[in-house]
Formats: sequence, C-alpha cells, structure tokens
Amino acid sequence: MKAGTLEGLCEAAAKGMELDVKQILEAGVDVSDFDSKGLTPLMHAALNGHASVLNTLLEAGAPWNALDPSGRCAGDYALENEHQDAIEVLLNAGIRAELIFGAVERPCRKKGDAKNKVYLEERAEFSEGRLMDEESNAVMMEWENPLMAVHAKVVCSGGGDILNIGFGMGLVDTAIQSHDISSHTIIEAHPDVYARMLATGWGEIPNVRVIFGRWQDVLPQLGTYDGIFFDTFGEYYEDMREFHECLPRLLKKDGRYSFFNGMCGDNAFFHLVYCEIVKLELAALGIETEFIPIPVRHCLDEKIWKGVQHKYWQLDTYSVPFCYLSDEQNKDQTGNQ
Ligand SMILES: C[S@@+](CC[C@H](N)C(=O)[O-])C[C@H]1O[C@@H](n2cnc3c(N)ncnc32)[C@H](O)[C@@H]1O
Repeated sequence: MKAGTLEGLCEAAAKGMELDVKQILEAGVDVSDFDSKGLTPLMHAALNGHASVLNTLLEAGAPWNALDPSGRCAGDYALENEHQDAIEVLLNAGIRAELIFGAVERPCRKKGDAKNKVYLEERAEFSEGRLMDEESNAVMMEWENPLMAVHAKVVCSGGGDILNIGFGMGLVDTAIQSHDISSHTIIEAHPDVYARMLATGWGEIPNVRVIFGRWQDVLPQLGTYDGIFFDTFGEYYEDMREFHECLPRLLKKDGRYSFFNGMCGDNAFFHLVYCEIVKLELAALGIETEFIPIPVRHCLDEKIWKGVQHKYWQLDTYSVPFCYLSDEQNKDQTGNQ
C-alpha cells in the first residue's frame, strides 16, 4: 500500500482498514480526490460496504454526492451491492447536507418569480405521444400513462372533490374522470395547453372546472379538496415545497395527495435521498407519505427518447407517493384527542 497517497487511502477504504484510513487522512491526503479509475475513497468504502470507514471519511469532509465517470455516486455503489448499513450512513449524510443546503439557499430565492417564465411564453407543441417545448424538452410523454393511472387512483381513492395542477396531455385528468368523484378542478398555466383543453371539450364537462393561470397566482380561487395531484413543468423542488406548505389548508380531512415523483430521475441514490427529504418535509406539515413502487423498465424503450433533449427518467422503478393527513393532524383538526 502506498502510505500517505490517495491510492493508499482508496485501498485502505476498500479493505475497511479504518486505522490506516485515519492515519492517511492525518497525513493530509485530499479525501475528495478521484483515483486513476475516477473513484473517490468514499466510493471504494461504499462498494465494499464498510459503514464505519464511510463515517470516518464523511467526517473528514468527503463529498457524499461526488460522481464517477459513469454518473454514479458512493450511494449508488452501496445500493447496487445491497450494503444496508452503508446505504443508511450515506442516506443520512445526503439528507443532512441537502436539508442544510436548502435552508441556507432558501432566503436568497426571489419569491413570486416564475422559474418557467420562458416555457410559459414559448410555444408548446403536441405531437404523437408527447408534448414538447421549443427547446425539445419533453413536457409530458405517453409512456407515463400507467403511472398517471396510479396517481389518479391514489387521489380519487376517497372520492369527493379533486384538484389537479398541470394538464399536460390530460392523461391524469382522463384517469380521474373514470373514478366516482363529485368535482374535478384543473389548473393549467400554458396558453397553448389551455387552448387545447378547450378545443377538446374539457371546458364543457359538467363536473369539471378549468382554471387558467399559474397555481401560485390562482390559489385564492381554490376551495378544499379530497384529492390533490401536482405535476407542473420547468419548476424546481423548492416550488413544489412551496406548494406543499399550502396543503394543510387545501386538503380536507382524510384528503389524499400525490405528486409526479420525477426528482433526480437520472440517479437512483439522489432520487432516494429526495424521496426521504420530501417525506420528512411533508411529515413536518402533518402529512404522512408512503411510496408505491411501479416497475417501469418495460415502458422505457430507447426509441421513445428520440428527439428528446433530456431523458428525465432513467430508473427501473417509479415510486408513486401516497400522502395523507396523519392521524395526529386529523385529531387536531377535529378537536378530538
Ligand atoms: C408534466 S405536464 C402535466 C402532465 C399531466 N399530469 C398529464 O397527465 O398529462 C405539466 C403541465 O403543467 C403546466 N404548468 C407548468 N407550470 C405551471 C404552473 N405554475 N401552474 C399551473 N400549471 C403549470 C404545464 O404547462 C404542463 O401542461
């Protein structure tokens, strides 16, 4: 072993030799460097499932989210090799880092600014099986139909008044219409999508109310709902987080909520970190979250991405969020203890 070098640190991390790892770190080797194969010491420890070495490296400042040349992070190595303890350590590190980053960055965000202003002002084009923006980004694609059916089932599982944010190709709204519900409100912000909704008769369905505008701007026109689905385009996690803060006011008692869970759809471990973060943040609002896994590999033929700028989903399993007000929250609302 080349003591005091990065190669030495990677070898000690791979073998789980914690004392050697500590000594090499004390010698001043940069824990965030990549070896000749493009791997960090953290990736070597994750690949071999050495949880306590992972802790030592993280304490020394190893970045949990560094990517190797194939786009995998240390957590991906732990996941692929089913090293449960290592997954836990890295997951906690990722959650902690992202929660801190969000809290630091949030006060600098300009509230009220439309992050997708350009998209909303450009043309949106419907073609065979997809809705595209002018930059060849897929706004919505037909392959998501089975996922939208499950989202609709989740939000309509209690019947009643349903709210959907983002019409897109109308897949989820068509599925919502197949359930026994009282009313169905749809918010859509893009003029071309709105025009198509009207042209295809959505404005004339008796139990449907279409509201044109950004959800941020039309909130005062809304009531309370038994089921809510959220799926916009060109917005960020922080926008959805802002919407989540409105949920305790928008959801009726026993109301259900779901959202398009495309967070970090090109990296399995980052996706896992964000599923846990959203779960924690919803829990702080009194909302419980469970995930329903749906295998999607068979839906994702390489051909479907032809002409699409960014493959926004590359994972084998999609997790449908099933969210509901927790019992504690229900008790608070009804006054029963
Ligand atoms: C991914 S698509 C929704 C797909 C839809 N779930 C379906 O099943 O076809 C996103 C939609 O949200 C709309 N949108 C984007 N930002 C919005 C906002 N702030 N408020 C309301 N709608 C928005 C887009 O114009 C687009 O039609």
